Order: sequence, then structure tokens, then C-alpha cells
Amino acid sequence: MNHASPAPASPGLRPHTARLYDYFLGGKTNYGVDRKLATEALSLYPNTMVAARHNRAFMHRVVRYLGREAGLCQFLDIGTGIPTEPNLHQVAQREHPEARVVYSDNDPIVLAHARALMTGSPEGATDYVEADVRDPELILEHAGRTLDFDRPVALSLIALMHFVGDADDPFGIVRRLVDALPSGSALALSHATLELDPGLQKVADAYGRQGLEVRLRDHEQVLGFFSGLELVEPGLVATCDWRPELDDSPQDADMVDRSEVGVWAALGIKP
Ligand SMILES: C[S@@+](CC[C@H](N)C(=O)[O-])C[C@H]1O[C@@H](n2cnc3c(N)ncnc32)[C@H](O)[C@@H]1O
Repeated sequence: MNHASPAPASPGLRPHTARLYDYFLGGKTNYGVDRKLATEALSLYPNTMVAARHNRAFMHRVVRYLGREAGLCQFLDIGTGIPTEPNLHQVAQREHPEARVVYSDNDPIVLAHARALMTGSPEGATDYVEADVRDPELILEHAGRTLDFDRPVALSLIALMHFVGDADDPFGIVRRLVDALPSGSALALSHATLELDPGLQKVADAYGRQGLEVRLRDHEQVLGFFSGLELVEPGLVATCDWRPELDDSPQDADMVDRSEVGVWAALGIKP
């Protein structure tokens, strides 16, 4: 575990995406600056909370699928977020107690709460690296201490890449990460879009005013992250439509309004 950067005693005055997301999921690990922006986002786009919950539920289902159907038990989760139960390793280790998970995020507050991410099954292993996805080499080097890159690894970039602007070569970053994984590996990715509801632009603008870049991408652009991979059915769809039957308690599909979801999601397998 990388202990390089403990959480600051004084959190500073800038909101951060991890703490905003925590607020939207009903968590308590957020500061006044985060709640102020989160409240503004909710007033501009009340669906934000619903979208966050659908996104989190996609993570649970795709990890379940990877364990049950694809037999994967190694995970590299970048843009982990503040721990919210069940965390990825808890879902994965329910399927395979020996599952090994490396988490990574660039918000020091996630590191401060990483103990919750490190308490897994005795047969499995978890680790955490504080890093920015824009430094894939650092993440891969650290992950290699826990994961065996000669065996398939599931890379999860869930609700992360819309925080990486075009100037930072987001597609090149994902390619570099996927290139490091062997055949049979997987990429689970979700990404905010305007196509399900153009109203999401107001949230992106509010984040932008606070210095948080959000780059919303359309279906074709998000598909670009899966270049060279084979998409698992049903392909790139709204988070709520990705294998809803894998939910612990599936919601009646008719009760979900796609315009509330705001996020594309898919799973690709490396041939
Ligand atoms: C919306 S949350 C998603 C959390 C989790 N993946 C999920 O879907 O439930 C986005 C996470 O990405 C992290 N993040 C944002 N930009 C990042 C970057 N450049 N490098 C690494 N992590 C980043 C944030 O700190 C936050 O924890």
C-alpha cells in the first residue's frame, strides 16, 4: 500500500469528484465545499443522485458477471472512489474468495479511507495505490506486486474517463492499460453522456466553474475506449440496461427512466 500522501488535515477549499460522488451516494465523507457544489448540481439536474446509484449498481453487476461468467478473479480498479459497501472486492470475493483487487484513485481522501478497501477475505488480497490515471505506468508497476499480469485481469474504469480531457489523451491512456493485460482480460467502463439527457451539461458546467473538468462523450466516442476488444452483450448501453438480471434485487425495467441515468456502460473482452 502506498502511504505517500495522508489526507490533509485541512481539506482545502476545492471540491473533489470523489467526495461529490460520495455525497450523491448518501455518504458522509465530504466537506462543505463539496456539499455546496453537489447541492448546486442537484438543483440544476435533480437526476444526479439517481444516475450515481445506477452507475454504482452497474459496477456490482459487471463484477458479478466477470466472476461468474468469465471466471476472472483479478481486478485493477482505477478511480475507485470513497469506500461504499459493497466495495468491488467484496462483490468479487463473494464469487471467488481468492480474488485479488488493486484499487487506485488520485484523491488523498480515498487513501485515508483505504482500510475499508483492504479488509477482504483471508484467501484473497487487496492493495491500494494513490495515483492519477494519467500515469498508467505507475499504476501498472504497483499493481504488478499484487496481480499476475500473465493471467487475465479485469480493468475497471467506472465513471472515471469523463474526468480526463482530450488534451490528456484519454484513449491513449486506456490503450496503454489494456495493452499491458493478456488475452482474456476485460475492460469494464462507464462514462457520462449528454445523449440520454442533455440536461447533464448543466452539471458539467457547474463542475467546470469550480475547476473540475468534465468531458461528456457520445456513444461513438465511448465505443472508442473499447477499440480492439469484443463487447459482451448487450454492448454499450445505459447503465441500467446492462444485464439488470444480475442485480441482487432487480428493478422493474419499466420503472427506470433512461433520461435519469446519464451514463453509458459496457464490458469488453480482449481476444
Ligand atoms: C464518480 S467517482 C466513481 C467511483 C467508482 N469508480 C464508482 O463508479 O462507483 C470518480 C472517481 O474517480 C476519481 N478520479 C477522478 N479523476 C481521476 C484521475 N485523473 N485519476 C485517478 N482517479 C481520478 C475520483 O477521485 C473519484 O473517486
